[in-house]
Amino acid sequence: MIRHAHLLFILAVTLASIMSKNLEAESFLGNGKANELFQAHCASCHGQQLEGGMAGSLLDDIWTTASTDEALSHAIKFGLDGTNMPSWKSVLSDDDIRTLVLLIREKAHLAKQANATAVDVESTFTSRHHSFDIETMVDAQGIIWAIDFLPDESLIYSQRNGSLWLYNKNGHVKIEGTPQVWHHDQGGLLDVAVHPEFTKNGWVYLSYAVKTGKNAEGKDTGTTAVVRGQITDNRWQQQEVIYLPEPSKHVNRGWHFGSRFAFKGPYLYFSIGDEGYKDTAQSLSHHSGKIHRIYDDGRIPEDNPFVGVPDAEPSVWTYGNRNPQGMTVNPFTNQLWSAEHGPRGGDELNLVLKANNYGWPVATFGMNYDGTSMKVPTHVDGVTAPVHQWTPSIAVSDITFYSGDKFPQWKGNLFAGSLAFQQLHRLEIKNDQVVNDEILLSGMGRIRDVTTGPDGYLYIAINDKVTSHYRVVALKPIANQ
Ligand code: HEC
Repeated sequence: MIRHAHLLFILAVTLASIMSKNLEAESFLGNGKANELFQAHCASCHGQQLEGGMAGSLLDDIWTTASTDEALSHAIKFGLDGTNMPSWKSVLSDDDIRTLVLLIREKAHLAKQANATAVDVESTFTSRHHSFDIETMVDAQGIIWAIDFLPDESLIYSQRNGSLWLYNKNGHVKIEGTPQVWHHDQGGLLDVAVHPEFTKNGWVYLSYAVKTGKNAEGKDTGTTAVVRGQITDNRWQQQEVIYLPEPSKHVNRGWHFGSRFAFKGPYLYFSIGDEGYKDTAQSLSHHSGKIHRIYDDGRIPEDNPFVGVPDAEPSVWTYGNRNPQGMTVNPFTNQLWSAEHGPRGGDELNLVLKANNYGWPVATFGMNYDGTSMKVPTHVDGVTAPVHQWTPSIAVSDITFYSGDKFPQWKGNLFAGSLAFQQLHRLEIKNDQVVNDEILLSGMGRIRDVTTGPDGYLYIAINDKVTSHYRVVALKPIANQ
């Protein structure tokens, strides 16, 4: 009996860790279908770890073909003339071939990461345009989810465990009286955003997971809530509920809550992920898998695209969004952008346009976490293609257009944080296309949020579970660069 209980416990823990990995869009390697295919058909020549043997390594970034995804798929499907690489078209489906290319990309990334030397936050960094130092502002206990600044340059930040903090030259204080959150799986206190006219109205917005009931199996369920409030004497006061789905739709069991804010004119945009039920992302009658648009006080704008459509949620602005955890307005063009987690592969950067369908789950570049194909194309008619996609998944988090004056060469570039790959990306965008994707930081922890500070430095929230450092840091240029 004891033994059984022990085994069951191990099984439960293993399953729980697989589940949480799956849903956090982290690479999940080793025992999936793609790996089985590789071991059955390819390992004899390319090596069990893709390290090479009778044929070349698929990890060393030395290629015979043009090395694009298309070139690799073509080599696998039709073989390579003049080499021993056979054609697999009668053995493997196009779906199988796609998952194998993804597997090759994932393994190559991990090999590269394993070879990289560990970096210390306090080092000096060089990059294409600027060299910079990193300065730690705040070292917290527990995961930091979001950061923003008040007009007086105080930093405000949320922690997933439910606490909200203010940090400035007078000290570091916890704001009392913030809402009770559901701190469970991916849920907790999520985004915090300061109203653009804070000086006039004092509003601060919070999004968070809230537990509201139980489902038919007796499991806890909840949803994403949006509130605003004012901070007086270090207390959260005057709270108003800005958005809460109707109770019959509180189906979330702990995943894909979204949720990022972006202000644009009188409107507040926010995202909610598919909450673990992917098909609802295509249904206009459900709030999940959407980007919403409301007035900053919660009213529904009459010109929202689905107002008056029977059964449609009137706050919906776009649909088919898997789990957007990055959103920002480009201050130079006024366009709204979002970044969302793909499944295994296919993280997306999207230009957010009224009424558009971003395709989840009917089109994706990713595969299932178990390495089987999603059996859906990368593109279908009526679906807006991402401006940029990351395969394998970097687990893209928040994004921001740098608008400060401390890094002149970075002005207008889009910065994106990544969780699983622990990277900071700098993207150059021309004519709504990404023309360059430079990785500035890697391996220092999961980068959850990124924003331009009022002093012009670039701020990021880095959560490193291994060293238990949960920090807000500033990137500062090295003088005379
Ligand atoms: C009989 C041996 C053999 C088997 C089995 C084999 N390959 Fe190859 N493969 C080669 C050789 C030889 C090349 C030529 C270049 C090299 O040596 O890397 C090659 C090239 C490739 C390339 C192009 C790499 C480049 O440098 O551009 C890919 C991708 C590839 N193989 C994938 C696979 C996959 C996936 C499988 C299993 C479905 C597979 N191979 C099975 C021998 C093999």
